[in-house]
Amino acid sequence: MASFGELCFSPAEFANLARIDRSMLPLLEANGLLKTTKKKVGNVERKMIPMAELQNYFHAIREWHEIGRHGDHCAPIVSPESVASGSVATATAYVPMAPAHKIQMFYNVKGGTGKSTLTAQYVMRAAMMGLRVLAIDLDGQGHLTVNLDVLDGHERPTIYDVLINDLPIADAIMNVAPNLDLIPANLGLCNIEIPLNNKTRREYRLSEAIAKIAKNYDVIVADTNPAASILNGSMLVASGLVNVVCATNPLSFHGMSLVMATIEEMEREFARTLEVRIIPNMYDNREVISQEVLGELRAQFEGSCTKAVINRSADINEATKRRSTVWDVNPRGVAANDINHLTEELLYLQELPLQTVALATDLDTSSTASVSNIAQAAEHAASVNLLAQQALTGSEENASHTTELHS
Ligand SMILES: Nc1ncnc2c1ncn2[C@@H]1O[C@H](COP(=O)(O)OP(=O)(O)O)[C@@H](O)[C@H]1O
Ligand SMILES: [Mg+2]
Repeated sequence: MASFGELCFSPAEFANLARIDRSMLPLLEANGLLKTTKKKVGNVERKMIPMAELQNYFHAIREWHEIGRHGDHCAPIVSPESVASGSVATATAYVPMAPAHKIQMFYNVKGGTGKSTLTAQYVMRAAMMGLRVLAIDLDGQGHLTVNLDVLDGHERPTIYDVLINDLPIADAIMNVAPNLDLIPANLGLCNIEIPLNNKTRREYRLSEAIAKIAKNYDVIVADTNPAASILNGSMLVASGLVNVVCATNPLSFHGMSLVMATIEEMEREFARTLEVRIIPNMYDNREVISQEVLGELRAQFEGSCTKAVINRSADINEATKRRSTVWDVNPRGVAANDINHLTEELLYLQELPLQTVALATDLDTSSTASVSNIAQAAEHAASVNLLAQQALTGSEENASHTTELHS
């Protein structure tokens, strides 16, 4: 079993994740944005992109974009010379901008609907996209902790120590994979309700603790316990987005009215407005009952139901068994496709942020070396941003203005 952090991606898989045309890969490499390695698959040496390089690529492209923001949707990866000689290629690519809601939770008062499973798949998938992710396990069963391959959770501090014993939240955080941190849980967390009930400002303690480390992350996602507990209430106070996982069976559907009532009550009590998404899980299109429940969910909760539907799949169970991502089991399978759609939808609540990227096509080895250092390259980008913009729009007015600016 390859651990999550050791996954490698084929050029086609990379292109799919980065939403970039595969033919642009050599240019990304030449421009110093992407590093590939050769890996032996059977008897053949294949070009592969290790997880760390995938994440580096996303960091680099986000950095380029943020620096080049004044140039509107243009991440310039070009030198002034390439612009002058017109040797610039453009492509659309996914740029991992900040998600619509930084603090999110997976929630349902009913157990067994797939909360812990989907939370684990979601946080791993978001980390693959280069986002800095913190997962918080708020269930004493510790299923998210185990799903993220942490087997010594019983020896580690949990959110109990933070909320009850005043442990600084940073001391409860562990790193589990590149870009992915976790506050684990263990059985001790099941005893939190009485001491938490006795604390002053009990429902605010969690959001205040999270606020102290929030700046270190792009997205913070909690898996919750299957109850209307004070701990879950505290997470509802902290969250902007509540992801309700509903299995497409009649009992799960029946429990939805209770779940929605709990959320509405919290909104009233704490004067908050929460965004809610309902995720249909374990869908089986061969079963009439599955189809009926999906139809009912969409009819009753129109606007809150995700477009993404998670099919019942052996790959998801296998990923749970391996304590890894569905990408490790079968990157081209239905489950990986479902988790892709779900992640994109929950992160951005709209279309993926795709931007135009400008790449120099005439780089020789020396110029490649000069832009391979991302920090240097970022500075370089700032100075050529407007030139690149001009190259893309072909506006002469812009060009003279740019030349003045940078001369
Ligand atoms: N889409 C799915 N297809 C197949 N099995 C699933 C799917 N989603 C969840 N499961 C399985 O259902 C079981 C319960 O899921 P879990 O995430 O523990 O639920 P919860 O956290 O809501 O109690 C697990 O064994 C998990 O592997
Ligand atoms: Mg669970």
